Amino acid sequence: MADTLTLIDNRTGKQYEVPIVYGTYPEYGAAIPAQALRQIKATPNDFGLLCYDPAFLNTASCKSAVTFIDGERGILRYRGYPIEQLAERSTFLEVAYLVLHGELPDAEQLADWTWYITHHTLIHESIKKFMDGFHYDAHPMGILASTVAALSTFYPEARNVYDPAARRKQIYRLIAKMPTLAAFAYRHSIGMRYIYPDNGLSYPGNFLSMMFRMSDESYEPNPVLERALEVLFILHIDHEQNCSTNAMRGVGSSHTDPFAAVAAAIAALWGPLHGGANEQVLRMLGEIGSRKRVPEYVDRVKKGEFRLMGFGHRVYKSYDPRARILKAMADQVLEVTGRSPLLEIAVELERIALEDDYFVSRKLYPNVDFYSGIIYQAMGFPVDMFPVLFAIPRTVGWLAQWQEMLFDSEQKIARPRQIYTGADERTYLSPELRGEAQRLQRA
Ligand code: ACO
Repeated sequence: MADTLTLIDNRTGKQYEVPIVYGTYPEYGAAIPAQALRQIKATPNDFGLLCYDPAFLNTASCKSAVTFIDGERGILRYRGYPIEQLAERSTFLEVAYLVLHGELPDAEQLADWTWYITHHTLIHESIKKFMDGFHYDAHPMGILASTVAALSTFYPEARNVYDPAARRKQIYRLIAKMPTLAAFAYRHSIGMRYIYPDNGLSYPGNFLSMMFRMSDESYEPNPVLERALEVLFILHIDHEQNCSTNAMRGVGSSHTDPFAAVAAAIAALWGPLHGGANEQVLRMLGEIGSRKRVPEYVDRVKKGEFRLMGFGHRVYKSYDPRARILKAMADQVLEVTGRSPLLEIAVELERIALEDDYFVSRKLYPNVDFYSGIIYQAMGFPVDMFPVLFAIPRTVGWLAQWQEMLFDSEQKIARPRQIYTGADERTYLSPELRGEAQRLQRA
């Protein structure tokens, strides 16, 4: 069997052979290069055929070796490693190294990597002043996007995106400073003094300290909550070509510095269709109010009154593997923080929905957001911080995808085509003639 596609243009009767390209798995991700369609023309001088694919529903925008998702079978792997194994056995920084470098670090590499990240957590004092300028009720995600963009003014060498040392340094800085900026944004919003990073703590432990420490005494994070946050961070590191990653690659393709590109990715993540669904889940569970009211709520969903938040996924058409890990984790966290009526409602909602043909036939299962909000809330994070908690680990994925894009010889500045549907050429008229011309046009 030849790995080509034969196309016949019925406008001209001409036949074309178009190659089929593959990734690691022939049954997953076979594609035709869109450029191969440009030879297909109705007349010798026309532009050639384009692909029309709003929202990239069926377009591969790149080749990538970072993350593999099989939505039908509920599989997620970073660099080939199943997410379940990484969530069970690894630390966030170890997985961050894997995602960025392609291999798990040996002991020495991990020690170096951890040292560099730990020693770049401080932010310039002027960034603190910059933050002080925000109103007390500024959304922490807005503060995060702005301060990350502002970092580029402190590190002008970041523009040298093809200088390996400069690139490495910005990667350390971004991964290290993100929790500091996030925690400072939160402390600013509640009017509490900033807590500086503690180099003796783990990456998630230090973040908890900067968020919640109250006095000058040393802070010891609860090990269950510290590990829960670590796992949540691991699960959110990368998810292949989602909206914010696409923003990172698109903006980064102009070779702007990584701080500017990450700021753009944060802006994309902020939208309710991307990083904001777990907040909606909490609101929904609150609205349901008790286990008894779950069947009535499910009936209303089935009548099309609203959607079940945290259910369904564009890619996963069986159980989201991240949701399975988080469901188990929610129990452990609530053992420490106290029982949550919301979890009981969530479990009942899942049970009833998964027995119902409406959800089963549409392949609607809980996604990562179904349980993450419950855990964040139990740990004491306000709802406004949920997208920020997503941005911290996703920075690793954004940077890995950005680097991959920079060194992909097939990539160029991202510049999609369009199908023009506007007016044909017109002649400019002076203002006094326009009214009459428009009247004639309408007549
Ligand atoms: N509750 C009830 N019905 C649903 C839901 C839901 N959560 N999701 C999809 N459906 C139904 C649709 O009404 C449609 O039914 P129909 O065929 O009778 O018209 C069918 O399932 C297919 O729905 P689509 O909108 O075509 O599915 P799509 O893949 O475009 O949407 C999405 C995926 C946006 C995630 C959707 O499932 C949804 O809105 N879920 C709720 C919001 C949510 O949880 N988002 C978080 C996603 S995870 C993340 O971003 C990190």
